[in-house]
Amino acid sequence: MKLSCQVADVQSNSASTESLEPRGAKPIIAVTMGTSRQGSAVVRHLSKSGIFQIRAITRSPLSKQSELLSKLDNVQIVQGDLLDPESLKRCFSGVHGIFGNTTPTKGWVVGRGSMVRDYEIKQGKNLIDIAKKFADSGTLKHFIFSSVCKPKDPLKSEPAPGHFTSKWSIEEYICNKGLKKVSTILRPVSYFENFDSDLPSVQISETIFPGVVNKNTVWQTIAVDDVGLWANAVFQNPQKFLGEALNIAGEEMTGEEMAALWQKIKGQESPKVRYAMIPRRLINLLEHDIGLMANWIERAGYGADLTQLKNIADELHITMTPLAHWLTKKSYRRTPSKQALMFNLGRRFEPVSS
Ligand SMILES: NC(=O)c1ccc[n+]([C@@H]2O[C@H](COP(=O)([O-])OP(=O)(O)OC[C@H]3O[C@@H](n4cnc5c(N)ncnc54)[C@H](OP(=O)(O)O)[C@@H]3O)[C@@H](O)[C@H]2O)c1
Repeated sequence: MKLSCQVADVQSNSASTESLEPRGAKPIIAVTMGTSRQGSAVVRHLSKSGIFQIRAITRSPLSKQSELLSKLDNVQIVQGDLLDPESLKRCFSGVHGIFGNTTPTKGWVVGRGSMVRDYEIKQGKNLIDIAKKFADSGTLKHFIFSSVCKPKDPLKSEPAPGHFTSKWSIEEYICNKGLKKVSTILRPVSYFENFDSDLPSVQISETIFPGVVNKNTVWQTIAVDDVGLWANAVFQNPQKFLGEALNIAGEEMTGEEMAALWQKIKGQESPKVRYAMIPRRLINLLEHDIGLMANWIERAGYGADLTQLKNIADELHITMTPLAHWLTKKSYRRTPSKQALMFNLGRRFEPVSS
């Protein structure tokens, strides 16, 4: 879909101190938040393509995750902070493309959780202001901003969680700054990886498939690795994607269907799996914005067009990760975890199913 300026429109190895001069003939792509789940997936796919030189941006070039990324072909780890425009100037100098990602996660506070809308907007504005300078100078040819999927029905989209509206406001800022022509917006839905997070009670186990929404809500999800798959495809096909926005999802299932799929993968003779909705009150207490997100998904829902995506994927010869494939590859706990016990405690305050 054409990238509209209306927010309501739904439709690879070196240390950071090394020279950032272009190396060889490969176009350089800078990846912000290069160590994040999303950023590192993008770095891995770009590295595998062999076409690009990659600058993976991190605040901590000596971290374990930075070290792992630095071992990939054509990847250079560079120090940068989305809150520090000067560092971004250095990171973006001479680049052909930028994969721009921002984070709302600031630090956990009782009653609020960790997500702060203004914190993400500040990063987004810095990112776009500096990207614009390089687009104007003619070096930057393609900017991807990773946002979040928009709803099917705009009328149902309010109120939206702060970490969604921050990204849509940043999309708007891209248009207002006149960066649209060289931009592509990718809008991923919820990651499969959320089903297996470290958050209390959000972990697939032998008997539980956890989720934040009602068991009957159709919920679009994606493997975080597929954000890298799409970003790589977008950078390789600028003529198709410049000025466009694309909602991306890999699956569209209810919680009960996902639990049934997990049962099928484990075997029908194995212990019974049930879909377990995390009590909304518990979510609201721990991470308020995720509670708002769960309400939003139940009311509005992500609006990715899976048929259209499949057609584009076929055309580009890329294959998205099915949930069944992701589940087959994962290991899981055979004994109830501490988190599962917490979940059971939470059930005393709110019914699990509706
Ligand atoms: N979870 C989902 O289902 C989902 C779905 C769609 C979209 N999203 C969005 O995707 C984005 C990324 O999420 P994620 O889960 O991939 O991230 P993540 O794994 O939680 O990683 C966060 C990253 O942010 C980096 N970071 C934090 N503050 C920074 C700053 N000031 N400047 C530069 N880097 C900074 C950290 O890197 P260093 O410490 O190495 O600098 C870290 O790698 C978020 O905006 C999220 O809302 C999430």
